[in-house]
Amino acid sequence: MAFYSRLSTLLTEGVEEGQETSYNAWLQYTRKENEQYVKNAQQIVSQIVLEESSPIIEAIKEELTIGINGMLGFSPMITSEKTCQLALTLTTSASATSENTYSKLNHEGYLIETVEGEGVYIIGKTDRALMYGAYHFLRLIQMDHSLEQLSINENPVNQVRMINHWDNMDGSIERGYAGNSIFFKDYRFRKNYQRIKDYARLLASTGINAVSINNVNVHKIESKLITDEYLPDVKKVASIFRTYGISTFLSVNYASPIEIGGLETADPLDERVKQFWKEAVEKIYSYIPDFGGFIVKADSENRPGPFTYGRNHADGANMLAEALESFGGMIVWRCFVYNCKQDWRDRETDRARAAYDHFMPLDGQFHDNVVLQIKNGPMDFQVREPVSPLLGGLKHTNHFIEFQITQEYLGQQRHLAYLIPQWKEVLHFDTYAEGEGSTIKKIISGSLYNQKISGIAAVSNIGDHYNWTGHTLAQANLYGYGRLTWNSDYSSERITDEWIRCTFGSDEKVQEHLFHMLMNSWETYEKYTSPLGVGWMVTPGHHYGPNIDGYEYQAWGTYHFADRDGIGVDRTKKSGTGYTNQYFSPNADMYESVERCPDELLLFFHHVPYTHKLASGKTVIQHIYDTHFLGVEQVENIVDRWKELNERMDDRRYQDVYSRLNEQLLHAKEWRDIVNTYFYRKSGIDDDQKRTIY
Ligand code: GCU
Repeated sequence: MAFYSRLSTLLTEGVEEGQETSYNAWLQYTRKENEQYVKNAQQIVSQIVLEESSPIIEAIKEELTIGINGMLGFSPMITSEKTCQLALTLTTSASATSENTYSKLNHEGYLIETVEGEGVYIIGKTDRALMYGAYHFLRLIQMDHSLEQLSINENPVNQVRMINHWDNMDGSIERGYAGNSIFFKDYRFRKNYQRIKDYARLLASTGINAVSINNVNVHKIESKLITDEYLPDVKKVASIFRTYGISTFLSVNYASPIEIGGLETADPLDERVKQFWKEAVEKIYSYIPDFGGFIVKADSENRPGPFTYGRNHADGANMLAEALESFGGMIVWRCFVYNCKQDWRDRETDRARAAYDHFMPLDGQFHDNVVLQIKNGPMDFQVREPVSPLLGGLKHTNHFIEFQITQEYLGQQRHLAYLIPQWKEVLHFDTYAEGEGSTIKKIISGSLYNQKISGIAAVSNIGDHYNWTGHTLAQANLYGYGRLTWNSDYSSERITDEWIRCTFGSDEKVQEHLFHMLMNSWETYEKYTSPLGVGWMVTPGHHYGPNIDGYEYQAWGTYHFADRDGIGVDRTKKSGTGYTNQYFSPNADMYESVERCPDELLLFFHHVPYTHKLASGKTVIQHIYDTHFLGVEQVENIVDRWKELNERMDDRRYQDVYSRLNEQLLHAKEWRDIVNTYFYRKSGIDDDQKRTIY
C-alpha cells in the first residue's frame, strides 16, 4: 500500500530517512518477532468487518491496515460483511453485545470482546467510539497482549480532552522547545497536511478530542484567523482533525472588534460589539459547522479584556458565549489573571491569591457554554505548587484544569522531566470541597458538581522537529497526558509501561531502565532546582535557569524572600497574605500550620529560618544541600542507565537522547553549585558533610 510504504520509508517535509522511528513516536507498529503470536493474531484479523462508512471509518480502516501490516506482516481484507469464521468486527449495532453493557457506553466509549469461534468485536455507539476501540486494539498487539480472551469496557471519564497550541503565525511557538509550528510559517498556513494528519493520529490514539491551534496571546495577524482571509485554511486543518474525532478551536483577541472590526470599542455591553461577534461566529460556522469555540486570555499579562470598560469577566465571557450558543460552540475563558506590574517592595499583594479573588465572586454568573480554564497551581506551572484553590472553590461554574506539557519551567525539553506523576498528584488531590473524597479528578470529570461542560486542557509540547518534541523522551508526556485525560484513574505505572512498549518495543532492559528513568525524573529535576515549593529561580524572559534572584526584584509577583536568616513566602492567615484561607478545611489548617505543612510545599506557604527542622528531620539548609547533591547523582545514574541501552534501539533515538542527557547533566551541576553556593553564602551555615560548595 502506498500509505504504508510512506510510513516505513519516508515521510513528510522536514523528516528524513533514518528519522522514522523518532517521527512515528508510539505508533511504531514494529514487526512482531514471536511467530506463534503472529500466527494467532493473523487468524483473528485476516478479515476486518466494518459496515459503516464515514471519514472517521475510512481513517480507522487505514490505521488498522498500517498497524496490522507493520506488526503482523500482511494486509487484512476489509469487508462490510463477515464471510470468514474468525474476524475482527467493528460495529455500532446494539445487538452485538448484551443490552445492559451497550446501554452503559457513552458516545465515545467502546467494548472489545473476544467471542469464541467468531473472533473479536469492537463495539461502540459512534464511529468515534469505534476509532478509540481500534487504537486500543492495535495497542494490545503492540504490547504483545493475547487476543484470545478480551473483555474490555472503556468509557472516557472526561468530556473535553484538549490540547492548546501556543503557535504564532510567524511560525514561532511561545514556550515551544521542539522547533517551529506545524501549522504556520511566515504568516501563512504551512499546508503540510500529512504532518497534521500524523499529529491527529497520535492525538486520537491517546484519546484527545479537542485542539486549539493558535497562541492564547493573539497578536495582530492572528486576530484575522476568524476572517475570510484565513478561514479556508482553518477549515482544511479542522477537516483533518475531524477525521480523527478532534474538534478545532481558535484563540481570539478580545479586542478584535477594534483590531479587525473598525470599532473604537470592545465593550461587551455595546450592541455594535455584540453584532461584530455574532457575525464573526456566523462566518466561522459557515466554514466549519462543528467548530469547537474560542479560547480567551483576557485582562491577563497585558492582553485586552472587559476591565477596560469597567466590566467583569462574566460580562466579557457571556457576550461571546451568546454569539456561539446557537451553534453549540463554547467559550474557554482562562483564569490566569493577576497583577503583572507589581512593585516588588509591596508585601501585601500575593499573586497566588489572584485567580481565586477575581473569579470566586463571579461563581454562578457564567452562561452554560462558558468554561473557566484554571492552571493546576496558583502561580505558573512550577516544578512544585499546591493545587489551585479555585478548583473545587467554584461550585456553580463549568471549569477545566490546565496543565502544561511543554516544559517551560521544567527544563525546556533539554532535561528529562516526566510529568505524569506530577499530574497524577494533582488529579488525586482532595479539595474537601464537599467533604472527604472531593478530588480534583471528580471535579474536572464533572461528577462532583454536575457541570455542563468539564474536562482537561494542556499546553502542547510539539513542534516541527522530526521527533515532534525535541527530547525524544518528552513524547511520553504527550502520550501520558492524553491517556490521563481519557481516564485519570490510570496509574502512572500503567501509562508508562504502555508508552515504553509501544515506542521502544518489549526489550526487557529497555523497559526496566526507561521505566526507572521516567518515573523518577520529575523529582530528580526538583531536587537540583528550586527547593521546597518556592519556585522560579530562572531568568525572566526565557525561563531557563539557574538564576536564583532572577525574579526577586521583578514586577511579576514571584519572590523567594531569601535573606541571611531564612527563606520562603508567608502566605498564612495569621501573619502572611492569607492565601491559606482560600482552601477548604482541613487543607487550610494543614497549610497554615508550619508543623503540618508538607515539606515539599513548606516555602510556598511559610517563611522559615534555614535552621528550621523539616518533617524529614533535616534542617532546611541541609535539605537544600543534600537534595542538590543527590539530584546530580541521580542524573548521573540516568545517563549510565541510558548508556546500557546502546544497541538496543536505533542509533538515531539513542544518540538524540544521549546528547540531551549529557546537556542535562552539565546544567544540573550548574544548578547544584549555584543554588548551594547562594544559600551557603547567605546563611553562612556549613554543609554537615563538608562537600564542596563555592
Ligand atoms: C506564562 C508563560 C507565557 C504565557 C502565559 C499564559 O506566563 O510564560 O508565555 O503566555 O503563561 O499562560 O498565558
